[in-house]
Amino acid sequence: MSAEFFAGPTLAIESSCDETSAAVVSGRLVLSNIVASQAKLHEKWGGVVPEAAARAHVEAIIPVVSEALSAASISLQDVKAVAVTNRPGLVGALSVGVTAGLAFAHGLGVPLLGVHHLEGHIVSPWAVGDPPLPHLCLLASGGHTELVLVRDLGSYELVGQTLDDAAGEAFDKAARLLGLGYPGGRAIQDAAIDGDPDRYPLPRGLSGKTSDFSFSGLKTAVRRLVEAEGAALVVRDAAASVQKAIASVLWQRAIETALDHGAKAVTLAGGVAANLMLRTELERQALRHGLEFIPAPIELCTDNAAMIGLAANFRLARGESSGFDLDVLPNAPLP
Ligand code: KG4
Ligand code: ZN
Repeated sequence: MSAEFFAGPTLAIESSCDETSAAVVSGRLVLSNIVASQAKLHEKWGGVVPEAAARAHVEAIIPVVSEALSAASISLQDVKAVAVTNRPGLVGALSVGVTAGLAFAHGLGVPLLGVHHLEGHIVSPWAVGDPPLPHLCLLASGGHTELVLVRDLGSYELVGQTLDDAAGEAFDKAARLLGLGYPGGRAIQDAAIDGDPDRYPLPRGLSGKTSDFSFSGLKTAVRRLVEAEGAALVVRDAAASVQKAIASVLWQRAIETALDHGAKAVTLAGGVAANLMLRTELERQALRHGLEFIPAPIELCTDNAAMIGLAANFRLARGESSGFDLDVLPNAPLP
């Protein structure tokens, strides 16, 4: 049976980290999805600076909302609900989106719904299909690396997670050590084209049977590699080796954990889900083991408001909404 989603149109806002985004979503149809990335701003520091992020959100939020409305060919008066990421994330960054969302919902007299950022990622594959239930979601981003057993929309069990760095963080730190750009995931993917992924042996983190991950040893190994090889380092081979080290542990553990929990499918979400090697190999392995594979569309992998609108629309369809005293929660477990 197909899941129920509120018809909308819902105006969705996301500002939990370093992307200011607004989208218009009807049911699960994404009518527009505008993302203003702050990557250029934070590049010089090699990571997100919270105060700078909040200021940039203030500047971008209204233009991004206007663009989302016009790209969807609707006016503000057509909006039937407002969804906004209120947890978890950087407190200043979240506050900008929540304040704007409150003002729009209040001014228009429509329901407001606060959305958990990770639920947005988990629901993003629903934009393209109805993943069978239960399924296992591999959620890998700059801040999180989690294996989530999805029993239904809104019913999640965390069955595995990173014990230290997130997979995206590992990509970003390795890219920095290799002198590639920021954010590092895409930079490593591009540098790895034609590279030899088996040239430099790198650690895979935890050994033995587990659903957890550890990426901190990889960062140390890359630092040692760069120091040991010096000018002789072949960057494309190092990038390919890093990509394989991160992606292979993700796909292997996702498949094993899916099988252990009787999942019917594997879904893939979060910024690292944009990685082409991970998408290709996880699909191959899933099909080999009789599991369906449903990745989030590439444009819904890195942070965006469309996924927030999707998550809001299934909750709005169930009659849920938030009060106008909606709180910003920098830390919050999955709902
Ligand atoms: O979900 P996201 O946009 O933000 C968080 O919620 O963290 O994820 C950002 C992360 C960054 O660490 C970035 O390096 C990684 O996703 N990423 C990638 C790729 N594109 C973005 N990692 C590997 N391959 C990619 N193509
Ligand atoms: Zn995210």
